[in-house]
Amino acid sequence: MTKSVYVLPGDNIGPEIISEGIKVLEVVNERLDLDIDIHYGLLGGAALDATGDPCPPETLAAARNSDAVLLGAVGGPSWDHHDRELRPEKGLLKMRYGLNLFANLRPAITYPQLVSASSLKPDVIEGLNILIVRELVGGIYFGEPRGFRTLESGEQEGFNTLKYSESEIRRVGEIAFEAAMKRGKRLCSVDKSNVLEATILWRKVISEMSADYPLVSLSHMYVDNAAMQLVSEPSQFDVIVTGNMFGDILSDISAMLTGSIGMLPSASLNEKGFGMYEPCHGSAPDIAGKNVANPLATILSVALLLRYSLGAPNAAEIIEEAVSRVLDRGFRTSDILTDGTTLVSTSQMGSAVMDAIITA
Ligand code: IPM
Ligand code: MG
Repeated sequence: MTKSVYVLPGDNIGPEIISEGIKVLEVVNERLDLDIDIHYGLLGGAALDATGDPCPPETLAAARNSDAVLLGAVGGPSWDHHDRELRPEKGLLKMRYGLNLFANLRPAITYPQLVSASSLKPDVIEGLNILIVRELVGGIYFGEPRGFRTLESGEQEGFNTLKYSESEIRRVGEIAFEAAMKRGKRLCSVDKSNVLEATILWRKVISEMSADYPLVSLSHMYVDNAAMQLVSEPSQFDVIVTGNMFGDILSDISAMLTGSIGMLPSASLNEKGFGMYEPCHGSAPDIAGKNVANPLATILSVALLLRYSLGAPNAAEIIEEAVSRVLDRGFRTSDILTDGTTLVSTSQMGSAVMDAIITA
């Protein structure tokens, strides 16, 4: 049966990295006879320019009718003058919310070939394999009330609400415990329960859930300590589960454990396993259009898409192995370039992965 992948290139480097992801998707599609149909839509600034809405209803509808969504990146200074509600980032948040993609999986793996590309010492990051499970449709990103108001003094105040219900915590907790069961059976729940009520409940619910997963060893950590531990002793972590904003921040930190944020893919899933796949990095306006961005996070996101939404784990492995072989050959985009390696462009990197698949 034909599977449809809906592709949203987005803004700035989005279209460049997506082209490379598609090269790779097309080659595995053909070689493994996966019967994947690829079609394109608009999100973010691109959608705003074309339709006046960063997340047009057609985009959401087409995403719902597909088997998986592949997203590049959205945003950039050229849309900064727009109203808050019309910002490209709002389009992305509406997609996540509209598709109920509550579980965001961000696997940070240190490739042995890239150990020296990280700003951290090799012995700190060697052999790392951490999975961050970030709650994606709740917490302070979506909590109401929110906004701006004028105080009696005449001063302006901006405000947001951090809240989590038991069911919101439980459903993402379940994904994290299940993931830990399939991996090293260690789960660290990150909160700020020494200060914030919403995360006191977070800790309570996750603790209660651990009775159903006796094989998983559960620990808890405050987010400030977790940030420090991630750079001082990251090998202690297997799976981390946390709320929306803490997950945003901790996943950028863990990106540096992989050598570059250009290496970090992500999967955002709903309760049915439907997912949207995107690199964790942003739209990088400063390097857009220069053919220098690292397309590997997008290519690795394609692998996650094949594994989690299209039921093609072998195709995912083929891609991941090809990425590893290309790194073995010394090909590097500028963000991961080190002494003795070869600088390649965005499109050369995509072609190298494609060739590695063809010649495997
Ligand atoms: C991410 C990004 C987004 C987020 C932005 C672009 C809204 O930083 O996916 O990590 O904060 O979730
Ligand atoms: Mg982020």
